[in-house]
Amino acid sequence: MAKHIQDLLGRPLRDLRISLTDRCNFRCTYCMPKEVFGPGYEFLSRSAILSNDEVVRLAGLFAEFGVKKIRLTGGEPLLRPKVDDLIHRLAEINGIEDLAMTTNGSLVPKKAHLLKSSGLRRVTISLDSLSDDRFAAINDQGFKASDVLEGIWAAKAAGLQVKINMMVQKGVNEDEVLEMLDYFRGSGIVVRFIEYMDVGNSNGWRRDDVFGKKAILESIKQKYDIEPIDADYFGEVASRYRLHGSDDEFGVISSVTDAFCSSCTRARLSADGSIFTCLFASKGVSFRNPMRNGASDQELSDMIQEIWGKRHDRYSEERKHRESSAKNKIEMSYIGG
Ligand code: GTP
Ligand code: 5AD
Ligand code: SF4
Ligand code: SF4
Repeated sequence: MAKHIQDLLGRPLRDLRISLTDRCNFRCTYCMPKEVFGPGYEFLSRSAILSNDEVVRLAGLFAEFGVKKIRLTGGEPLLRPKVDDLIHRLAEINGIEDLAMTTNGSLVPKKAHLLKSSGLRRVTISLDSLSDDRFAAINDQGFKASDVLEGIWAAKAAGLQVKINMMVQKGVNEDEVLEMLDYFRGSGIVVRFIEYMDVGNSNGWRRDDVFGKKAILESIKQKYDIEPIDADYFGEVASRYRLHGSDDEFGVISSVTDAFCSSCTRARLSADGSIFTCLFASKGVSFRNPMRNGASDQELSDMIQEIWGKRHDRYSEERKHRESSAKNKIEMSYIGG
């Protein structure tokens, strides 16, 4: 029986997002700009990163507190060696009902079958543009949209459920909202449009660059009648919509213009074993150090209970009252979004 816990705002603990590495083979301008993440940037050392045994142990303890969903993130999670062994072991944890991964898709053509046979249920693949040239400019490493599309179709063919994340930024790709939706219509693949957020400190975020939920919906309404549909689960990040008279659905993730902190049930584990209770936090609590110093399961469980019991994060809801974005936030590539 799970020991259910609530934070100071009454929110249960339901999801654990686990970052498997802080490295990525892309350098998306809004996430890992080359000026910051170029030569000389210090990534986590191999010994700093949790082993599969350590990740599985912590995930098991979180499941005892009611975590039902695990999402593997990065950086790029597929850069991590032996990810299939990890998935296999996480899928067997009691209470874990949903095991998913957020990936840039570039390595999916090679790994889709292995991921599926290891026990992964679904993947969410990021694709910000359907134009090869524009996509290459965004990832700044020469990857083409067609490389990622290959990953998307490989994942589907392997029997994984697939969603697409399109981060929409004014002046960069907002003209492709409708095109992206049309491209995947009828495929059973759900596209989610994400507002550009002020995560981390290195992307030079400006409020003016946000193409908000209202504008996203307006772009779609130029061609379609749409209707809202209920969330799939409590605390779902995306608001869901259906194209009227069809089964085609899409989502909008509006952390900037319509925050969803009041139902935020997510804890985040960094690749080096710290727990963060908000995407916009500047500090986490290390579980790796106590674990490597011989802490018992009971001691680690007490830490989880204490951290969640004291949690009151609601950064996105508070953002609208701020003059500017907070300083010293962790980077998205480190904590996995
Ligand atoms: P589903 O399980 O399919 O609902 O996926 P998800 O939306 O929970 O996960 P995904 O990794 O696809 O996240 C989509 C986008 O939402 C990413 O840009 C995340 O950074 C953002 N996101 C996810 N969780 C949070 C959150 O708690 N707060 C904020 N502000 N953004 C979040
Ligand atoms: N704002 C919104 N989404 C972002 N992502 C990365 N950085 C940002 C940001 N600053 C998205 C990626 C990926 C998902 C995990 O997060 O595009 O789809
Ligand atoms: Fe791009 Fe995702 Fe890599 Fe960041 S982690 S650089 S958003 S592919
Ligand atoms: Fe949760 Fe923080 Fe995101 Fe709000 S801003 S939804 S508290 S992670």
